[in-house]
Amino acid sequence: MVHMSRQIRFNAFDMNCVAHQSSGMWRHPLDQSARYKELGYWTDLARLLERGHFDGIFIADVLGTYDVYGGSNEAAIRHGAQVPVNDPVLLVSAMAAVTEHLGFGVTAGTAYEHPYPFARRMSTLDHLTGGRVGWNVVTGYLPSAARNMGHDDQLEHDQRYDVADEYLEVTYKLWEGSWEDDAVIRDRESGVFTDPSKVHEIGHRGEHFTVPGIHISEPSPQRTPVIYQAGASPRGIAFAAGNAEAIFVAAPTKAVLAGVVSRIRDALEAAGRDRYSAKIYTLLTIITDETSEKAHAKHDDYLQYASDEGALVFMSGWMGIDLSQYDLDEPIGNVKSNAIQSTVANFQQADEDGKEWKVRDIARLGNIGGLGPRVVGSAVEVADFLQEWVEETDVDGFNLAYAITPGTFEDIVEFIVPELQHRGVYQTQYVPGTLRHKLHGRGDRLPDEHRGAGYSLRNAAKV
Ligand SMILES: Cc1cc2nc3c(=O)[nH]c(=O)nc-3n(C[C@H](O)[C@H](O)[C@H](O)COP(=O)(O)O)c2cc1C
Repeated sequence: MVHMSRQIRFNAFDMNCVAHQSSGMWRHPLDQSARYKELGYWTDLARLLERGHFDGIFIADVLGTYDVYGGSNEAAIRHGAQVPVNDPVLLVSAMAAVTEHLGFGVTAGTAYEHPYPFARRMSTLDHLTGGRVGWNVVTGYLPSAARNMGHDDQLEHDQRYDVADEYLEVTYKLWEGSWEDDAVIRDRESGVFTDPSKVHEIGHRGEHFTVPGIHISEPSPQRTPVIYQAGASPRGIAFAAGNAEAIFVAAPTKAVLAGVVSRIRDALEAAGRDRYSAKIYTLLTIITDETSEKAHAKHDDYLQYASDEGALVFMSGWMGIDLSQYDLDEPIGNVKSNAIQSTVANFQQADEDGKEWKVRDIARLGNIGGLGPRVVGSAVEVADFLQEWVEETDVDGFNLAYAITPGTFEDIVEFIVPELQHRGVYQTQYVPGTLRHKLHGRGDRLPDEHRGAGYSLRNAAKV
């Protein structure tokens, strides 16, 4: 069987808050997520993930509260449902200082911060991490975030992606098209630090942004951070096809996932790129232990702490629908969303058994691990599951949410990683070099066929 040795990649899904995707789990005696305010909590986690040869840690972020459920943010605040939440970017330098290879996918939205200071912040991190930083480009989904940034509401779904397109144009120009590789010469004799003729103004004048000048950071190892993306609506996929080098998806079943993955790969090809030029990671929660029985007992124990209401707070925000209005037995019918459209569409599709998703199912799915499914079992059972999903859906790997932290990641590193390595389907050592090179093996910089490379001075010189 050709695909039996297909490699599986892991990424950790986290956020600078408690119980990231698993509302209520902060109450579990072994959960340490309330320590999210301590640097040592993050540096220990980074070391653990590197020991498990994870590709990276993906740090989600929102700039508003989940106030769709019940029409207010009261339930979100009560449950600690991604509020309070601290800044993700500031965690990265500390985690980089204690690791050598782990990648960092930092979430930042294109709706609320001007691209100029943001581009510098990413360049700074790319320097400090030795080229291990990625940017998860999000367009926002919470109206509360838009209001706090002075807008009446968020823009319409597709318009948000139009803004993102221009935002990226600005940042590509800054990262790729401002400083020539040999601009900084540090010539002690002549006293020239940087050759001014090799630093170019970008002269950007667009519909949403005006940036006339130069980038104020010198080129970093990757220049453009690895571009991550996580939206799977038709407009989201079109955006990903032009820009993404890694894509996070969430699908409740294998059949739904297979469809999402093939749509993304087709779109990459239609954009003139290789079908495999973006690594696709699907959201999953693994609950495991020495034996299947112990794993199921652990899951039962966790469920005592999981909160269905907390899950519906999240789901209402993601779907843009107040689920408190519905009976738990209500099917998710034909609702229209201005939030994460792909989430709603996924639930509206019947799964393999022709089952219709009801509000209750959504709460049960979401109370541990958010929008992703859950697999519970021994290392052998979980590894079988992972191989089956990868082989049948063409996905590259898994974005792993936690039930409790660091417990869930410790179990994965202790039980699952060695089992996959034993089967020859998981890396036993890292590829040296930058995050981009580790993921795609084609060097540190954007490849020529990527949209951002079109702004590169190396390509301008060829004209
Ligand atoms: C696994 C996953 C993680 C996401 N993480 C974030 C996040 O941290 N912050 C955010 O604002 N949006 C996040 N999103 C939302 C998307 O990036 C995107 O803005 C949204 O999915 C709208 O996309 P769509 O309608 O094209 O699917 C996430 C989506 C998925 C599927």
